[in-house]
Amino acid sequence: MIIAPSLLASDHAHFGREVERADRSGADWLHLDIMDGHFVPNISFGPEVIRAVRPLTKLIFDVHLMCSCPEVLLEPFVEAGADEIIIHVELEGQVAPLIWKIKSLHKKVGLAINPPTAIAEVQPYLDQIDLLLVMTVNPGFGGQQFIHECLPKVQQADAWRQERKLPYRLSVDGGINFQTAAECARAGADTFVSGTTLFHAHNLRAAVNKMRQVVTAHDPAVADLKL
Ligand code: DX5
Ligand code: ZN
Repeated sequence: MIIAPSLLASDHAHFGREVERADRSGADWLHLDIMDGHFVPNISFGPEVIRAVRPLTKLIFDVHLMCSCPEVLLEPFVEAGADEIIIHVELEGQVAPLIWKIKSLHKKVGLAINPPTAIAEVQPYLDQIDLLLVMTVNPGFGGQQFIHECLPKVQQADAWRQERKLPYRLSVDGGINFQTAAECARAGADTFVSGTTLFHAHNLRAAVNKMRQVVTAHDPAVADLKL
């Protein structure tokens, strides 16, 4: 299981400090949300922030590109220190060449799918990716409510991976708290991106630890336990 705090929910006045906090938290990866103000109605941060914080941690950098033209961004993000690059299936005709390009840069490839998009859209790419990210909110902002209607997509993606014996990780992103993490684990998710719940917790380390317990138990009742 992977727990990946999302830097989007951290204190943007202190990225370095926040990355060090994530580093000490026992998290597995750091999730970095890149928004271009076009694919989504918000702007976050770019490769220079990633380059600046890269020396502060050995955490895997899971870079989620919510961008209309990722092809111009792949090399800058790889040079800045990305370990995995996630692009969106909604880019349609661009998806196959982008996957090829990320592989040619020797980085892991993730494919994300938005809530309104049918899960069948990812099927042609499942044997080419390292991670499938099922968005459980409409991307663009942290702190939104989990959309429960996305859970069947997680179940379907898990069923396909078992049937076809494929190795991709199954990630969920958006509105992941202790309760919804357990629900996603039950549906088959193994990788949990969480911004607000983790970074806004008093004690990030305790929050990461609790999310791990909740996910291991596959039981939302464990979510009621005190931190
Ligand atoms: C949403 C981003 C998420 C976001 C999750 O557009 O892709 O990674 O940071 O934040 P929370 O956990 O606050 O929903
Ligand atoms: Zn994300």
